Amino acid sequence: LIYLDNAATSWPKPELVYRTMDHFLREQGGNPGHGSHSLAVSALRTVEETRLLTARFIQAAEVERVIFTLNCTDSLNLALKGVLQAGDHIIISSLEHNAVMRPLHKLSGQGVALTVIPATAESGVTAVAAIAKAITPQTRMLVMVHASNVSGTLQPIADYGALARRHNLLFLVDAAQSAGHVPIDVVKDNIDLLAFSAHKGPLGPPGVGVLYCGPRVNPETLREGGTGSFSESDQQPEKLPSKYESGTLNSLGIAGLGAALKFINTTGFEKIRRHEQLLIEELLEGLKKIPGISIHGYNGAVQHTPLISCNIRGYTPGEAGAILDQAFDIKVRTGLHCNPRAHQSGGTYPLGTIRLSPGFFNTEPEITATLQAIRKIAESKNR
Ligand SMILES: Cc1ncc(COP(=O)(O)O)c(C=O)c1O
Repeated sequence: LIYLDNAATSWPKPELVYRTMDHFLREQGGNPGHGSHSLAVSALRTVEETRLLTARFIQAAEVERVIFTLNCTDSLNLALKGVLQAGDHIIISSLEHNAVMRPLHKLSGQGVALTVIPATAESGVTAVAAIAKAITPQTRMLVMVHASNVSGTLQPIADYGALARRHNLLFLVDAAQSAGHVPIDVVKDNIDLLAFSAHKGPLGPPGVGVLYCGPRVNPETLREGGTGSFSESDQQPEKLPSKYESGTLNSLGIAGLGAALKFINTTGFEKIRRHEQLLIEELLEGLKKIPGISIHGYNGAVQHTPLISCNIRGYTPGEAGAILDQAFDIKVRTGLHCNPRAHQSGGTYPLGTIRLSPGFFNTEPEITATLQAIRKIAESKNR
């Protein structure tokens, strides 16, 4: 089996993640923050250790500003619906995922105005100057994806952050595809809200998301309930992170995220990025040599996460993906990847692309075998 769908969810996980989660469930299974016996305290210690590791992972100065959620989608819903109000104007790029588009579609029906800035066709990057032109006195927030989930193109978030701060806008970054692949610094890059999932680049399990909620923003809660603190009051506590963490946390998943971040820390971003770039360059160079392959979004010197979208002439992406799976046991994602707009601006709508996304645990022989399989598929219709 060759797994090349790490942009959907990373697999396999570091051995430490499996071991930590097994140990947590057997030995530490109390309810974190909801009890004072030793198992509850032990679980809470693990949750808070992961919070600290996560804060360091994104260079957040205040640990309590790291909120655990269900996934990146949940984090984005809180960041958008908890902050925006009727009359606000918001600027986004044409690269945004449905996790941003659908909450915004709902909010636009409630009086939030939206401007979508198309990413430049050549580079796949959303130009800072185009964003600047769209700012009005009503603009409240700038929302930008850090790396496209269709092309892997990394966006200049430091420049966006500087622009947002100059105009006193809130800056929300969707880091679903970048966290774990490139370092992120919420303070340096003027990020007010940062959303990502544990299960993609950070190499953790599914079921945990993170929202960093900076000091310039105080979202309304979307959920209220028991926090294990201030239990005498009917009112939701204002204290962070409890304000946004009602009900029993996914402590097992959070323990797994902590183990995954320890793995990333001991391995080092440099080593992870170097290996992923090696694989992606081999894949790119190999694909370019196969007749009938079109590669999308790799123009010029723009930086990418380990992800390539392509098509094979004569096949729909779905057909090609099914052959790769059934005949070669190679797992890729095909279609629109929850992002119709990116395909509309990239010319691959409505069928989408074949998305190959290697991860840190893939090997060079796996890339060679994938290229051989794609060549065979392509040659059977492109002789
Ligand atoms: C750019 C982007 N944003 C948001 C999400 C949503 O992530 P999740 O499904 O973990 O909530 C994804 C998932 O593919 C994504 O690629």
